[in-house]
Amino acid sequence: MSKIAVKGVRSVDLDVNDLERTISFYSTVWNLTIVERTSDSCWFRGTGPYNHILGVHKTNDMPSCRRITFDAADAATVDAFHKRIVDSGCKTQAPRALSTPGGGWGFGFEDPEGRNFAIVSDVHDHQDTDDVCDRPRKIIHVNVNAARIEETNRFMMDVLGFRLVDHSGPLYFLHCDNTDHASIVTATMKTATLNHISFDMPDLESCMRGGGRMRDAGYPIEWGPGRHGPGNNVFCYFAGPEEFPLEYTADVLQIDDTYPYNGPEYWKWPVGRLDHWGITPPHTQRWKRVQDLIKFTSGAYAL
Ligand SMILES: [Fe+2]
Repeated sequence: MSKIAVKGVRSVDLDVNDLERTISFYSTVWNLTIVERTSDSCWFRGTGPYNHILGVHKTNDMPSCRRITFDAADAATVDAFHKRIVDSGCKTQAPRALSTPGGGWGFGFEDPEGRNFAIVSDVHDHQDTDDVCDRPRKIIHVNVNAARIEETNRFMMDVLGFRLVDHSGPLYFLHCDNTDHASIVTATMKTATLNHISFDMPDLESCMRGGGRMRDAGYPIEWGPGRHGPGNNVFCYFAGPEEFPLEYTADVLQIDDTYPYNGPEYWKWPVGRLDHWGITPPHTQRWKRVQDLIKFTSGAYAL
Protein backbone atom coordinates (compact mmCIF):
# COMPACT_ATOMS: atom_id res chain seq x y z
CA MET A 1 0.00 0.00 0.00
CA SER A 2 1.40 3.39 -0.97
CA LYS A 3 1.89 5.80 1.91
CA ILE A 4 -0.86 8.40 2.08
CA ALA A 5 -1.56 10.75 4.96
CA VAL A 6 -4.05 13.48 5.70
CA LYS A 7 -2.73 17.04 5.40
CA GLY A 8 -3.90 18.32 8.78
CA VAL A 9 -7.06 19.59 10.44
CA ARG A 10 -9.08 21.77 8.11
CA SER A 11 -12.04 22.48 10.40
CA VAL A 12 -13.99 21.48 13.49
CA ASP A 13 -17.79 21.53 13.86
CA LEU A 14 -19.44 22.11 17.24
CA ASP A 15 -23.05 21.61 18.36
CA VAL A 16 -24.02 24.41 20.74
CA ASN A 17 -27.11 25.49 22.72
CA ASP A 18 -26.86 29.29 22.49
CA LEU A 19 -26.06 29.94 18.85
CA GLU A 20 -26.16 33.75 19.04
CA ARG A 21 -23.83 33.95 22.04
CA THR A 22 -21.48 31.48 20.35
CA ILE A 23 -21.40 33.46 17.10
CA SER A 24 -20.76 36.70 18.96
CA PHE A 25 -17.91 35.08 20.92
CA TYR A 26 -16.04 33.52 17.99
CA SER A 27 -16.38 36.64 15.82
CA THR A 28 -15.70 39.43 18.34
CA VAL A 29 -13.60 37.81 21.10
CA TRP A 30 -11.85 34.77 19.57
CA ASN A 31 -11.24 36.91 16.45
CA LEU A 32 -12.42 34.67 13.63
CA THR A 33 -14.37 36.02 10.63
CA ILE A 34 -17.85 34.85 9.60
CA VAL A 35 -17.94 33.40 6.07
CA GLU A 36 -21.54 32.18 5.98
CA ARG A 37 -24.50 31.76 8.28
CA THR A 38 -27.99 30.29 8.24
CA SER A 39 -30.72 30.31 10.87
CA ASP A 40 -29.17 27.38 12.73
CA SER A 41 -25.48 27.33 11.70
CA CYS A 42 -22.50 29.65 11.20
CA TRP A 43 -19.07 29.09 9.65
CA PHE A 44 -15.90 31.08 10.41
CA ARG A 45 -12.52 31.44 8.71
CA GLY A 46 -9.10 32.26 10.10
CA THR A 47 -6.56 34.38 8.20
CA GLY A 48 -5.17 31.27 6.45
CA PRO A 49 -6.46 29.81 3.18
CA TYR A 50 -9.06 27.33 4.47
CA ASN A 51 -12.59 28.33 3.46
CA HIS A 52 -13.73 27.86 7.07
CA ILE A 53 -12.02 26.44 10.13
CA LEU A 54 -14.97 26.35 12.51
CA GLY A 55 -18.67 25.56 12.09
CA VAL A 56 -21.17 26.00 14.92
CA HIS A 57 -24.66 24.50 14.86
CA LYS A 58 -27.72 24.87 17.07
CA THR A 59 -28.67 21.85 19.20
CA ASN A 60 -31.07 21.34 22.07
CA ASP A 61 -29.02 18.40 23.32
CA MET A 62 -25.79 18.69 25.33
CA PRO A 63 -23.07 20.82 23.68
CA SER A 64 -20.81 18.45 21.76
CA CYS A 65 -18.14 18.13 19.10
CA ARG A 66 -19.91 17.20 15.89
CA ARG A 67 -16.90 16.44 13.72
CA ILE A 68 -13.20 17.01 13.00
CA THR A 69 -12.45 17.41 9.28
CA PHE A 70 -9.08 16.61 7.72
CA ASP A 71 -7.75 18.06 4.48
CA ALA A 72 -6.57 15.71 1.71
CA ALA A 73 -4.46 16.38 -1.39
CA ASP A 74 -7.10 15.63 -4.02
CA ALA A 75 -10.26 13.66 -4.79
CA ALA A 76 -8.32 10.50 -5.66
CA THR A 77 -6.70 10.62 -2.22
CA VAL A 78 -10.11 11.09 -0.59
CA ASP A 79 -11.36 8.02 -2.46
CA ALA A 80 -8.27 6.03 -1.40
CA PHE A 81 -8.89 6.97 2.23
CA HIS A 82 -12.50 5.91 1.88
CA LYS A 83 -11.40 2.44 0.78
CA ARG A 84 -9.13 2.22 3.84
CA ILE A 85 -11.98 3.28 6.14
CA VAL A 86 -14.28 0.66 4.64
CA ASP A 87 -11.55 -1.96 5.02
CA SER A 88 -11.07 -0.95 8.68
CA GLY A 89 -14.73 -1.76 9.40
CA CYS A 90 -15.66 1.76 10.59
CA LYS A 91 -19.06 3.30 9.86
CA THR A 92 -18.85 5.63 6.87
CA GLN A 93 -20.65 7.08 3.85
CA ALA A 94 -19.63 7.15 0.18
CA PRO A 95 -17.52 10.14 -0.98
CA ARG A 96 -19.73 12.89 -2.38
CA ALA A 97 -19.86 16.49 -3.63
CA LEU A 98 -20.19 18.66 -0.53
CA SER A 99 -22.88 21.27 0.08
CA THR A 100 -21.03 22.90 2.99
CA PRO A 101 -19.45 26.37 2.41
CA GLY A 102 -16.70 26.11 -0.20
CA GLY A 103 -18.04 22.80 -1.55
CA GLY A 104 -15.46 20.13 -2.38
CA TRP A 105 -15.36 16.34 -2.29
CA GLY A 106 -15.35 14.19 0.81
CA PHE A 107 -16.94 11.79 3.26
CA GLY A 108 -17.48 11.33 6.97
CA PHE A 109 -16.79 8.35 9.20
CA GLU A 110 -16.80 7.21 12.81
CA ASP A 111 -13.52 6.02 14.29
CA PRO A 112 -13.15 2.94 16.56
CA GLU A 113 -13.92 4.97 19.72
CA GLY A 114 -16.98 6.71 18.25
CA ARG A 115 -15.39 10.03 17.24
CA ASN A 116 -16.68 11.66 14.08
CA PHE A 117 -14.18 12.62 11.40
CA ALA A 118 -14.32 13.65 7.74
CA ILE A 119 -11.74 13.81 4.94
CA VAL A 120 -12.24 16.40 2.20
CA SER A 121 -10.48 17.91 -0.81
CA ASP A 122 -11.03 20.51 -3.52
CA VAL A 123 -12.71 23.05 -1.24
CA HIS A 124 -12.87 26.59 -2.60
CA ASP A 125 -10.34 28.36 -0.38
CA HIS A 126 -9.26 31.98 0.14
CA GLN A 127 -6.52 33.86 -1.70
CA ASP A 128 -6.00 36.54 0.96
CA THR A 129 -3.86 34.74 3.52
CA ASP A 130 -1.59 37.38 5.10
CA ASP A 131 -1.15 37.11 8.86
CA VAL A 132 -3.09 39.66 10.88
CA CYS A 133 -1.82 40.46 14.37
CA ASP A 134 -4.09 38.98 17.01
CA ARG A 135 -6.20 36.83 14.66
CA PRO A 136 -5.93 33.00 14.41
CA ARG A 137 -4.66 31.54 11.14
CA LYS A 138 -6.13 28.06 11.45
CA ILE A 139 -6.69 25.12 13.77
CA ILE A 140 -3.22 23.70 14.16
CA HIS A 141 -4.10 20.65 16.25
CA VAL A 142 -6.96 18.96 18.02
CA ASN A 143 -6.30 16.97 21.17
CA VAL A 144 -8.70 14.05 21.65
CA ASN A 145 -9.01 11.82 24.68
CA ALA A 146 -8.87 8.07 24.26
CA ALA A 147 -10.10 5.28 26.53
CA ARG A 148 -8.45 2.73 24.21
CA ILE A 149 -5.28 4.69 23.43
CA GLU A 150 -3.36 1.95 21.64
CA GLU A 151 -6.27 1.15 19.34
CA THR A 152 -6.85 4.85 18.61
CA ASN A 153 -3.17 5.54 17.90
CA ARG A 154 -2.96 2.46 15.68
CA PHE A 155 -5.98 3.70 13.69
CA MET A 156 -4.49 7.19 13.32
CA MET A 157 -1.21 5.75 12.05
CA ASP A 158 -2.32 2.78 9.94
CA VAL A 159 -5.48 4.25 8.41
CA LEU A 160 -4.97 8.04 8.38
CA GLY A 161 -1.19 8.01 7.86
CA PHE A 162 -0.01 9.77 11.02
CA ARG A 163 3.46 9.28 12.51
CA LEU A 164 4.05 9.27 16.27
CA VAL A 165 6.70 11.95 16.80
CA ASP A 166 6.65 12.47 20.58
CA HIS A 167 5.16 10.84 23.68
CA SER A 168 5.03 12.78 26.93
CA GLY A 169 3.14 11.45 29.95
CA PRO A 170 -0.41 10.66 28.78
CA LEU A 171 0.03 12.59 25.49
CA TYR A 172 0.90 11.17 22.05
CA PHE A 173 1.82 13.68 19.33
CA LEU A 174 0.82 12.60 15.82
CA HIS A 175 2.34 14.29 12.76
CA CYS A 176 0.90 14.07 9.24
CA ASP A 177 1.51 15.44 5.73
CA ASN A 178 2.44 19.02 6.62
CA THR A 179 5.26 20.71 8.55
CA ASP A 180 3.44 21.29 11.86
CA HIS A 181 4.83 19.24 14.75
CA ALA A 182 1.48 17.52 15.40
CA SER A 183 -2.03 17.85 13.96
CA ILE A 184 -3.68 15.34 16.29
CA VAL A 185 -2.70 14.75 19.91
CA THR A 186 -4.21 11.80 21.74
CA ALA A 187 -4.48 11.68 25.53
CA THR A 188 -5.04 8.69 27.77
CA MET A 189 -8.34 9.34 29.56
CA LYS A 190 -11.34 7.32 30.75
CA THR A 191 -13.59 8.42 27.87
CA ALA A 192 -13.15 9.41 24.21
CA THR A 193 -13.97 13.09 24.79
CA LEU A 194 -12.57 16.28 23.26
CA ASN A 195 -9.50 17.50 25.15
CA HIS A 196 -9.08 20.84 23.34
CA ILE A 197 -8.98 22.66 20.01
CA SER A 198 -5.81 24.65 19.33
CA PHE A 199 -5.85 27.80 17.18
CA ASP A 200 -2.60 28.98 15.60
CA MET A 201 -1.76 32.62 16.29
CA PRO A 202 0.85 34.42 14.16
CA ASP A 203 3.23 35.10 17.05
CA LEU A 204 3.76 35.22 20.80
CA GLU A 205 2.47 38.80 20.97
CA SER A 206 -0.85 37.73 19.44
CA CYS A 207 -1.14 34.81 21.85
CA MET A 208 -0.61 37.09 24.85
CA ARG A 209 -2.94 39.81 23.54
CA GLY A 210 -5.55 37.12 22.95
CA GLY A 211 -5.16 36.04 26.58
CA GLY A 212 -5.85 39.58 27.74
CA ARG A 213 -8.83 39.98 25.42
CA MET A 214 -10.29 36.70 26.70
CA ARG A 215 -9.81 37.79 30.31
CA ASP A 216 -11.52 41.12 29.63
CA ALA A 217 -14.47 39.20 28.12
CA GLY A 218 -14.84 36.99 31.22
CA TYR A 219 -12.83 33.98 30.05
CA PRO A 220 -9.70 33.85 32.27
CA ILE A 221 -6.64 31.78 31.35
CA GLU A 222 -7.19 28.29 32.80
CA TRP A 223 -3.65 27.09 32.07
CA GLY A 224 -0.70 29.19 30.91
CA PRO A 225 0.90 31.21 29.61
CA GLY A 226 3.78 28.85 29.09
CA ARG A 227 5.90 27.09 26.48
CA HIS A 228 5.31 23.36 25.90
CA GLY A 229 8.00 20.68 25.65
CA PRO A 230 6.89 18.66 22.59
CA GLY A 231 6.17 21.15 19.79
CA ASN A 232 7.93 23.99 21.66
CA ASN A 233 4.77 26.11 21.24
CA VAL A 234 3.55 28.83 23.57
CA PHE A 235 0.10 28.28 25.04
CA CYS A 236 -2.89 29.79 26.82
CA TYR A 237 -5.91 27.56 27.52
CA PHE A 238 -9.48 28.74 28.11
CA ALA A 239 -12.97 27.41 28.76
CA GLY A 240 -15.00 29.12 26.04
CA PRO A 241 -18.79 29.47 25.82
CA GLU A 242 -20.58 26.30 26.94
CA GLU A 243 -17.24 25.14 28.38
CA PHE A 244 -15.62 24.23 25.06
CA PRO A 245 -11.87 23.74 25.72
CA LEU A 246 -9.86 26.15 23.56
CA GLU A 247 -6.17 26.99 23.11
CA TYR A 248 -4.38 29.94 21.60
CA THR A 249 -0.92 28.83 20.53
CA ALA A 250 2.05 30.22 18.56
CA ASP A 251 5.59 29.28 17.53
CA VAL A 252 4.67 25.64 16.86
CA LEU A 253 7.79 23.68 15.89
CA GLN A 254 8.00 22.96 12.15
CA ILE A 255 9.42 19.51 11.31
CA ASP A 256 10.04 17.06 8.48
CA ASP A 257 10.60 13.31 8.22
CA THR A 258 14.03 13.60 9.87
CA TYR A 259 12.51 14.67 13.22
CA PRO A 260 13.47 12.00 15.77
CA TYR A 261 10.94 10.40 18.13
CA ASN A 262 11.33 11.04 21.84
CA GLY A 263 9.46 9.31 24.66
CA PRO A 264 8.31 10.05 28.21
CA GLU A 265 11.77 9.79 29.78
CA TYR A 266 13.10 12.49 27.44
CA TRP A 267 10.18 14.86 28.14
CA LYS A 268 10.22 14.67 31.96
CA TRP A 269 10.06 18.12 33.61
CA PRO A 270 12.14 19.04 36.64
CA VAL A 271 10.06 18.95 39.85
CA GLY A 272 7.72 21.95 40.07
CA ARG A 273 7.84 22.79 36.36
CA LEU A 274 5.14 22.37 33.74
CA ASP A 275 6.66 24.36 30.87
CA HIS A 276 9.99 25.44 29.40
CA TRP A 277 9.90 28.89 30.95
CA GLY A 278 8.92 27.63 34.40
CA ILE A 279 6.27 30.30 34.79
CA THR A 280 2.89 28.61 34.22
CA PRO A 281 0.80 27.76 37.27
CA PRO A 282 -0.83 24.31 37.32
CA HIS A 283 -4.08 23.67 35.44
CA THR A 284 -7.13 25.12 37.19
CA GLN A 285 -9.80 22.74 38.47
CA ARG A 286 -12.08 24.12 35.76
CA TRP A 287 -9.54 23.23 33.06
CA LYS A 288 -9.22 19.70 34.45
CA ARG A 289 -13.01 19.41 34.17
CA VAL A 290 -13.52 20.92 30.72
CA GLN A 291 -10.72 18.97 29.05
CA ASP A 292 -12.75 15.80 29.67
CA LEU A 293 -16.28 17.20 29.34
CA ILE A 294 -17.27 17.51 25.67
CA LYS A 295 -18.38 14.32 23.94
CA PHE A 296 -18.60 13.70 20.21
CA THR A 297 -22.13 14.07 18.84
CA SER A 298 -23.51 10.56 18.66
CA GLY A 299 -23.87 9.20 15.12
CA ALA A 300 -23.16 12.58 13.45
CA TYR A 301 -20.31 11.47 11.16
CA ALA A 302 -22.12 11.94 7.83
CA LEU A 303 -21.47 15.13 5.83
FE1 LIG B 1 -2.63 21.90 22.53
